[in-house]
Amino acid sequence: MMKILGIETSCDESAVSVVENGHKVLSNVVSSQIDKHALYGGVVPELAAREHLDNISTVIDRALRLAEVDVKAIDAIAVTKTPGLLPALLIGVSFAKGLASSLNIPLIGINHITAHMFGALIDREAIIKREASYPILALIVSGGHTLLVTIARDGTCAIIGRTLDDAAGEAFDKGAKILQLSYPGGPLIDKLSRFGNHSRFNFPRGLCGRSGNPVKPENRLNFSFSGVKTSLLYQLKEWDFDRPALNQAVSRLIVDHATPEQLDETLATYLDIIASYQEAVVDALVIKTMLAIGDYNAKTLIMCGGVACNHRLREKLQLEASKINVPLMIAQPEYCTDNAAMIAGLAYYQIMNNEKDDLNLDATASIKSIEQIPLHL
Ligand code: KG4
Ligand code: ZN
Repeated sequence: MMKILGIETSCDESAVSVVENGHKVLSNVVSSQIDKHALYGGVVPELAAREHLDNISTVIDRALRLAEVDVKAIDAIAVTKTPGLLPALLIGVSFAKGLASSLNIPLIGINHITAHMFGALIDREAIIKREASYPILALIVSGGHTLLVTIARDGTCAIIGRTLDDAAGEAFDKGAKILQLSYPGGPLIDKLSRFGNHSRFNFPRGLCGRSGNPVKPENRLNFSFSGVKTSLLYQLKEWDFDRPALNQAVSRLIVDHATPEQLDETLATYLDIIASYQEAVVDALVIKTMLAIGDYNAKTLIMCGGVACNHRLREKLQLEASKINVPLMIAQPEYCTDNAAMIAGLAYYQIMNNEKDDLNLDATASIKSIEQIPLHL
């Protein structure tokens, strides 16, 4: 039995987890700093680093206690080394180095993006082992990334699509800011869109060729969310919304569970704009993902990252994938957003493939490449 302690500090969650043999999650502790960053409307790297420093030892203690494992029984330390906010990554990496050297156990640096993909498979070991699952196509949609990645049976990965501007999560968060919703806006747009009519307004689906402009071949699988955001800005200018009244009504819907019928027409329009905006972002993700499945003959589709929690995206992708009989595996909510179980789980496969690091391990902010996910054993 190999017990690995994973540490994740690439953004605004200090997360620690203990995982046995790659898949048995003994504890998965996530301490979010979201309230602190909400004051600034986004994540502040130096603040994130300071918070990680304040939290990390408590979170490690809690993860060990919940797993009912003594630190001396840990066989290896895994840590996110890239990509992420550099000051934030450095806290995790320094802690991991200290722990690994004091316990004299292996240290494994993990790529956060590969770990997100693993997060969709952490409780699906059989899919990993099955030959017929490959090639796998992964849609990674978070606050920082929007990627389409293929995984071959030998673990070789290739990025086949990416965003040219905002990530899908940013499209939600920045859209929410324009709508004057609180940060992070993704989950709020998701909630509010259920009360609106998503086909009332036609927002642009970036790089999908719907505007009449043909898509350049090199952008066939790429995304662009800047147009939809600008379009939202213009759409809102056309309506003279009374902000305090809207805010009050939104809070009645969300907090007091009022029904939309109890709301006036202005609010109904506002909700239709929200639903239509979400529909455009979701459509672009679904359209490109389905194109990629066809182009690469993918046998399994996985989806991960915070935006994978979005109900409409889950629903539409599930519908399209089932039409062509491609199974869709969506990471469980606790493994969608940033967590350390995906770090400790993937590290097991890396160790088995003899991919270890030493105390020279460096954190890097931008992703160099994703060449390999060591799922083959
Ligand atoms: O993966 P994640 O927790 O952090 C990283 O960016 O690595 O993703 C956070 C992002 C935020 O942009 C948040 O607004 C978005 O995921 N998000 C959602 C939903 N839940 C989280 N976006 C749309 N609908 C949701 N339900
Ligand atoms: Zn992430």
